[in-house]
Amino acid sequence: MKDLLKICDLGRQDLAEILALSERGDLGRPLAGKGVALVFQKPSARTRNSMELAVVQLGGHPVYIQKDEVGLGERESAEDVARTLSCYHEIIAARVMDHSDLVTMAGATETPLLNLLSDTDHPLQALADLLTIRQLVGRLDGVRIAYIGDANNVCRSLAEACALSGAELTVASPQGYGLETVMDTLPDGVRQVADPAEAVEGAQIVYTDVWVSMGQDGEAEERRRAFAAYQVDAALMARSADAWFLHCLPARRGEEVSSEVMDGPRSAVWRQAENRMHTARGAMAWMMTR
Ligand code: CP
Repeated sequence: MKDLLKICDLGRQDLAEILALSERGDLGRPLAGKGVALVFQKPSARTRNSMELAVVQLGGHPVYIQKDEVGLGERESAEDVARTLSCYHEIIAARVMDHSDLVTMAGATETPLLNLLSDTDHPLQALADLLTIRQLVGRLDGVRIAYIGDANNVCRSLAEACALSGAELTVASPQGYGLETVMDTLPDGVRQVADPAEAVEGAQIVYTDVWVSMGQDGEAEERRRAFAAYQVDAALMARSADAWFLHCLPARRGEEVSSEVMDGPRSAVWRQAENRMHTARGAMAWMMTR
């Protein structure tokens, strides 16, 4: 079985297989009688719930483990946490503050490790994003996506997912918050601009995320000032003829998105949230066939 820490760990065929499995629905009970450890160093609504349900749908038993219960790197080293959990579980899944903890855990055991979000990546979110986009537009190759705002972990995984699927991604961010701050080289088909209107022009998908992510509270005011001109509102959406709106959630209405857009007829955020469960199921089933 295989780890899934980053979208760029996957090949095109892997991605196609995961998306196909995600849409298949009933995948049998490959996890019957087996456990999946869900370690969370940060809060979660979508990831925890979608993973728990996906494990149950595959016949397994999810065990939710809060930050203080394992004390990753504090009560016990990341290596020893991974070794312990591998005694009981078929898959270890973890949401961590520092991506290097995932790499350390993956190196300590043969049990496959699934990234539930790190400071640099959110691969399960990107899988749900691609599935949603394909359902909305009918294909991925050549689809034009505008991402407005902070080039964070969600944006980085989306950029890698676009490169793998042939979608074209334009990211619009203020100076100092673009993809160049987190990636040495932009993947094929991905470009960075400053102007949100330029990014949205001709786009079929408009995507945004919060300006202040978990752990950035100390920068909140500075970030809100920097991103003030980057809200996805009705005027920005009108720059594209019929774009769909996506958001990984949770959203801060009135900051990165207006309620009018979030609740509007072109918003697909709840389908996107539901697809977290389908792609979690597809990703775990795929990991078990490797
Ligand atoms: N999008 C996402 O990962 O949501 P949660 O933080 O609620 O899991």
